Amino acid sequence: MSVPRVLITRRVPPPAVELLRDAGLAADVCDQDDPPDRPTLLKRVPGVAGLITMLSERVDGELLKAAGPSLRVVANFAVGFDNIDIPACAAAGVRVTNTPGVLTDATADLAWALILSAARRVVEGDKLVRSGQWTGWTPLQLLGLQLTGSTLGLVGAGRIGTAVGLRSLGFGMNVLYADERVNPELEQRVGAKRVALDQLLPAADVLSLHVPLTPQTRHLINAARLATMKRTAILINTSRGPVVDEAALVAALRNRRIAAAGFDVYEHEPRLTPGLADLPNVVLLPHLGSAATATRQKMSRMVAENVIAVLSGREPPNPVN
Ligand code: GLV
Ligand code: GLV
Repeated sequence: MSVPRVLITRRVPPPAVELLRDAGLAADVCDQDDPPDRPTLLKRVPGVAGLITMLSERVDGELLKAAGPSLRVVANFAVGFDNIDIPACAAAGVRVTNTPGVLTDATADLAWALILSAARRVVEGDKLVRSGQWTGWTPLQLLGLQLTGSTLGLVGAGRIGTAVGLRSLGFGMNVLYADERVNPELEQRVGAKRVALDQLLPAADVLSLHVPLTPQTRHLINAARLATMKRTAILINTSRGPVVDEAALVAALRNRRIAAAGFDVYEHEPRLTPGLADLPNVVLLPHLGSAATATRQKMSRMVAENVIAVLSGREPPNPVN
């Protein structure tokens, strides 16, 4: 009997490969850090029993067909799974899993790195010092937003939105959130109030996005909604790029319709909308939300455990479908 093969579409930290091998599976790793191009991916999937995919791989009918009927599980190395056509997987009898929970704190920390950087103009200040053009302290230099007493607006209060909200306690902020569901933890621990999105936008000094990408959230933050925000507001996105209409964002930042932005994700990732990188009032990170060593190792263990469960005929710990 041939050993079932599991394709991992990128180099990943331990212990995924070791766990798969210990479970008697053949781990076939695309031995590179960059995404495999589509033709390469299509060539490597025929006959696989499992696929460990990254958020940059489109898992659709074409890929499932190329893999063939041997494929039983797609384990996404991410909490978001907007890269996966879930109905197509269901129709093909393929289970899909993700990595919830283990990256919540790392992603919330990174959202705060962006909040603080954008509010206090950390990147602009760093550039000024490095450039040798800093001539010394002045009362009006690079003034930013004082977080204490200001209002944090969370769009989406799931695991990550909640963790971002809880961290605001240390900064003495008021917290508002827009979510379909009441979040008792946020309400009890930080006194957060749930409001409609259209009330949240004009009230927030810092607006932080924590929704998954779905047809309903694509361009949720568009020109019309940006126009209702405070001119002094800061927009933070650590969720998925297409939640923001990036062309509208560039225009809003350029016209000082809002004060600043901190982004970890982009509408056409890894490409940037023209003009975005030329703006001084943005902090731009390369999708680092879960990029903490301990978190990535937990994600690695999780994807392997999900694949092993499905291929052993058990229910996976983190099913999406
Ligand atoms: C990263 O963006 C993830 O969804 O895990
Ligand atoms: C994702 O993990 C979320 O619930 O925010």
